[in-house]
Amino acid sequence: MLQKYKKQLAKSIAGVFPESFTEDVIFSLLEKPKSKTHGHISLPVFRLSKELRKAPPQISSDLSEKIFELNLSEIEKVEAVSGFINFTWSSKFLNESFDEFMTSQEHIGFSERFKGKKLIIDYSSPNVAKPMHVGHLRATVIGQAIRNLAETQGYEVIGLNHLGDWGVQYGKLAWAYKKWGSEYDFENKAFESLYALYVRFHKEADEHPEYEEEGAKTFKELEEGSGELKDLWKKFIDISLKEYNKTWGRLGVKHDLVRGESFYSDRLEAVVDELKEKNLLTLSEGAWVVELEDDRPPCLITKSDGASLYATRDLASALYRMKELKCDVNLYVVGQEQKLHFSQVFSVLDKMGYEWAKDCHHIAFGMYRFKDQGKMSSRKGQVISLNQVLDQAVSMVKERIEEKNPDLENKDSVSEIVGVGAVVFNDLLNDRIKDVEFDWDKLTDFEGDSGPYIQYSAVRCKSLIRKSESENFKPKVELKEESETRLINSILDYESVLSLSFDNFKPNYLATYLLDLSKAFSHFYNTCPILSLEDEDLKQTRLHLVESYLRVLTEGLGVLNIQVPEEM
Ligand code: ARG
Repeated sequence: MLQKYKKQLAKSIAGVFPESFTEDVIFSLLEKPKSKTHGHISLPVFRLSKELRKAPPQISSDLSEKIFELNLSEIEKVEAVSGFINFTWSSKFLNESFDEFMTSQEHIGFSERFKGKKLIIDYSSPNVAKPMHVGHLRATVIGQAIRNLAETQGYEVIGLNHLGDWGVQYGKLAWAYKKWGSEYDFENKAFESLYALYVRFHKEADEHPEYEEEGAKTFKELEEGSGELKDLWKKFIDISLKEYNKTWGRLGVKHDLVRGESFYSDRLEAVVDELKEKNLLTLSEGAWVVELEDDRPPCLITKSDGASLYATRDLASALYRMKELKCDVNLYVVGQEQKLHFSQVFSVLDKMGYEWAKDCHHIAFGMYRFKDQGKMSSRKGQVISLNQVLDQAVSMVKERIEEKNPDLENKDSVSEIVGVGAVVFNDLLNDRIKDVEFDWDKLTDFEGDSGPYIQYSAVRCKSLIRKSESENFKPKVELKEESETRLINSILDYESVLSLSFDNFKPNYLATYLLDLSKAFSHFYNTCPILSLEDEDLKQTRLHLVESYLRVLTEGLGVLNIQVPEEM
């Protein structure tokens, strides 16, 4: 239900509760019932048990009666079920709120609660010369969804690519390029060649440790600003970005700003100076570190040879984002394995006296586990690239389409939308912090809890509307069937789901909601005739419901960065 009506309900019923159950408490407790037979919205009263010295079922039963006596026009039924009070909205109220919701905004469900605030989100951020792997897939997909969610809540958002483009490995690469570059086809296969060089260097350096020194020396030269090396290094970045852009294009991702690690090179000294001034640095085995009070290892700032580290660059980057770009919130979408790193960086910022350290958040996520090892596995040392995953999903979807709908036009472009959508939805349906079991068949199952299932539901609506030979339907009569009011109620949940999903940085709330929504639609579609109706007003009203559902579904999928084809 719309937030404002939830608030209104909390206010109307607060009088029957003891003082500790204020309007705000009630509002925060109102939730979606666990079972479909338990009304539209539910209030758990377990918390009152101690205060009232009664069992929860007794409390909910007493209070339900009192609420019923209030005779609230928006409520049709109040029911006590164990420790819950379950409310059913009246169909008149649902129909009116629904009408209001669908006509109120250009982007339905959006909120302006963070208007005037700026949020920066660092996501995808691959490392030059290396293909993006499945970890980057997660960082990209989750990051883009959270970015979109932030926009629904009124934030001005900067999507940032903290490209890994600095460090001794780029000296090694430059050295390798000079030594072996001519053996590779940089003309036609630039990125493959670059990666091949990277791999070759590490392989050969195992047998020739002196190569490592050459690489380090070359990086020193690069740091000191050698023109020829700088050009080479820029070329590596260009080649890599071109490759990443292809993938981001498939996923509909576009960063607003690229600030690679190299960007901070000339800001690192200032960071070290500030740490010194604030008496935070200690010397440990020749390296400068910031000690942390708890049992975490200290945060390394400069190595004994004076070289900076990943953490130093992240400190400079945080200062840049918060002080120069004047952001209010700073998010990092990076795998769980960097948990320690971010906790160290944030603690150092806090010790430096920056109150905004609390507004920096590491949005961590778990790993993929591939169930069917035959189709693709990450055997020792063999990284699965992001593109391989997308390609495999697209080809499986194409097979399904060939089977189900052989006459479909544009099979390739539809398979691309559905295959990519399947991968994205499969990722986002999981609580990000947990590992994702990657089951190819489940992921591309048109009938299961999958992206294709939802896309198919949207496609079915589009075809229904086409068949009706009209569009932009207006509601004419009150919808009262259980499956109709259930669908309407579910549509009205959209607004709260967006805000809850953002507040917890959990796109899976939205993904799960969209799945439930499409199930509510399916129930409606299977129980209520539409095109065959003789009653023209009812037909128009149901078609309006179909259009509204399609709109919320499409916008919701859009927030998750999933597209809907015309047919599939
Ligand atoms: N380049 C890193 C990686 O691929 C991710 C960078 C994340 N962002 C950051 N500010 N450290 O693992």
